[in-house]
Amino acid sequence: LTRERYPVRRLPFAQVSEDDLAALERIVPGRVITDPEELEAPNVDWLRTVRGSSKVLLRPRTSQEVAHILRYCHERNLAVSPQGGNTGMVGGSVPVFDEIILSTTLMNQVMSFHDVSGVLVCQAGCILEELGRYVEERGFLMPLDLGAKGSCHIGGNVATNAGGLRFLRYGSLRGTVLGLEVVLADGTILNCLTSLRKDNTGYDLKQLFIGSEGTLGVITAVSILCPPKPSAVNVAFLGCPGFAEVLQTFSTCRQKLGEILSAFEFMDAECMKLVELHLRLASPVRAPEPLGVLQLLARAVLTLGRPCCLRSPCLLPLPESPFYVLIETSGSGAGHDAEKLSDFLEQVLGSGLVTDGTLATDQRRIKMLWSLRERITEALSRDGYVYKYDLSLPVERLYDLVSDLRARLGPRAKHVVGYGHLGDGNLHLNVTAEAFDVSLLGALEPYVYEWTARQRGSVSAEHGLGFKKRDVLCYSKPPEALQLMQQLKALLDPKGILNPYKTLPARA
Ligand code: FAD
Ligand code: MLT
Ligand code: ZN
Repeated sequence: LTRERYPVRRLPFAQVSEDDLAALERIVPGRVITDPEELEAPNVDWLRTVRGSSKVLLRPRTSQEVAHILRYCHERNLAVSPQGGNTGMVGGSVPVFDEIILSTTLMNQVMSFHDVSGVLVCQAGCILEELGRYVEERGFLMPLDLGAKGSCHIGGNVATNAGGLRFLRYGSLRGTVLGLEVVLADGTILNCLTSLRKDNTGYDLKQLFIGSEGTLGVITAVSILCPPKPSAVNVAFLGCPGFAEVLQTFSTCRQKLGEILSAFEFMDAECMKLVELHLRLASPVRAPEPLGVLQLLARAVLTLGRPCCLRSPCLLPLPESPFYVLIETSGSGAGHDAEKLSDFLEQVLGSGLVTDGTLATDQRRIKMLWSLRERITEALSRDGYVYKYDLSLPVERLYDLVSDLRARLGPRAKHVVGYGHLGDGNLHLNVTAEAFDVSLLGALEPYVYEWTARQRGSVSAEHGLGFKKRDVLCYSKPPEALQLMQQLKALLDPKGILNPYKTLPARA
C-alpha cells in the first residue's frame, strides 16, 4: 500500500553492512535490534497505513550515545529515522525504506524538577503520562495532554509540536518548552537546555527543532514549564442542537467562564455512534449515574420549566444530539468555579443552545467523559481505512467542510465525521471506508486542501506533515517559505540522512 499510495524512490544512502552492525554494537552494546519479529511493530505506523522495511533498530540511553550513532551514520551515509512512541498520525515515525530506526525508548530519565518554578528537565524518551504522574505528585501539571499520552514520548511531542487537549489553556509547546538538547546530523551535541523564562541572546534556535519532525536533529532532552495543578476541575458534556449553537455556546463559555475555561472540545453525533459501536462506551447523557452537586444544580436550572433535559440519570431514552461539546474548567476555588459554571449553564440551557448533558466533578467521571472524546481516534481506526485531515480553519466555517463532504461523497464513504479542538480552531475531519480506495481519495484530495487554502487555513494544524502530507505543504506556505525550509535542511543536514522523505516535499 505504501508504494501504491505514495510513490517514492529510495535515495542513494548506504546499506547497513555487517561491519556497520559491529560498529553500532560497540556504541550501544546489546541494544542493536535486528530480530525481524521485534522490528515488525516499529516499522508500521499507529494507523497501519504505512510500512517501512528497516532491518536495524537502536536503543541509545544517553545523548553521547546518540551523538556517536549519528557521527557514525553521517560518515557512512546511512539514513536514520528517529522514533518516539510511534503514535504519529502522518507516517513520520516509521522508515520508508531501510532507514535505521533510532528509538528513544530507553532515554526515559527525569533529570531535574524545581518545585518553585515548575521547570521539568527530562530525557526525550519519557512517556507523557508518566511525566504527568511525576509532576502531579509534586503539585504541578504537564502543560500538554493528548489521547496518546500512555505511549507518546515528550521528545516526539516536541518534534511534532503536538497541540492536544490543554492547548486552549496553556498554549503551544513553542511557549512552554524553555530549552532543548539536540544532536545534529553530524553528531554535534547542541546544548540549549536552559530553564530560563526570558532569554533574548540571539536567535531562539530551539524553535527550529520544535515541530521539525526529526528532520533537523534528534531531540535528546527537554526543559519544560509546568503550571500548578488546579485544585478544582469540572467537566461538562453537553448536547447542542446544531453547529451554530456549538459556536454560540463557545462564545458564552468564554464570557461566563473566563479564566477558568481550560478546554472546549467538540464532536458530532456520528463520532458518538462510532465510540459506542466500536468501544462500547455509553453515551453519558443516558448512563444511570448518581447525581452530584453540580448535577443537582443543573437539574435545578432545568426544573425552572425549560424545554430541555440536562439530567443524570436520564430515565427516558433521549433523542440524540447532533453535536456534543466537552467543556472543562480548571481553577483554584471549587465554590467560585461552581458558581460560574451554574451561571453559564443557566444561560445556555435557558436560551436553548444546549439541550442535553451531564456534569462531572470527581476524577473517575471526569476521566470517563474525557475518554469519549479522546478515544474517537481509536474508534475510527476500528471502523476501516481512515482518511485523516487535521485542519486549522476560521471557527465559524469549521463544520461546513464536513457537511459539504458528506454530500459530496454520499455512500462511497462509510462515515464522514468532524471533531476536534474547537477552542483552537482545529477540525479533525475523518472519512472511513471498508478499504483504501483510490477513487475516494480522488474525491477527497485536492478538494479538502483547496477548500482549506481558500479559507487561508492550515492543512496540518497539529499533526505535522511527516511522510503522508509532505506534498501538501504548498497549500499553507508560500514558495519562498518552502525554499528557506529546504535551505535550512541543507545547512543542518547536508547529506539528508535525518528522516529522509519526510516533512519537505520531494525536490522537483
Ligand atoms: P512518534 O510518532 O514516534 O514520532 C513523530 C515524529 O517525531 C516523527 O517524525 C519522528 O521521526 C519524530 N521524533 C520522535 N521523537 C523524536 C526525537 N526525540 N527527536 C527528533 N524527532 C523525533 N497529536 C496532537 O498534536 N494532538 C492530539 O490531540 C493528538 N492526539 C492523539 C491521540 C491518539 C489516540 C493518537 C494515536 C495520536 C494522537 N496525536 C495527537 C498524534 C501523536 O500522538 C503526536 O504527534 C505525538 O506528539 C507523537 O509523539 P510520539 O512520541 O509518538 O512520536
Ligand atoms: C485528537 O485530537 O483526537 C487527535 O489529534 C487524534 C486525531 O486526530 O484523531
Ligand atoms: Zn487533535
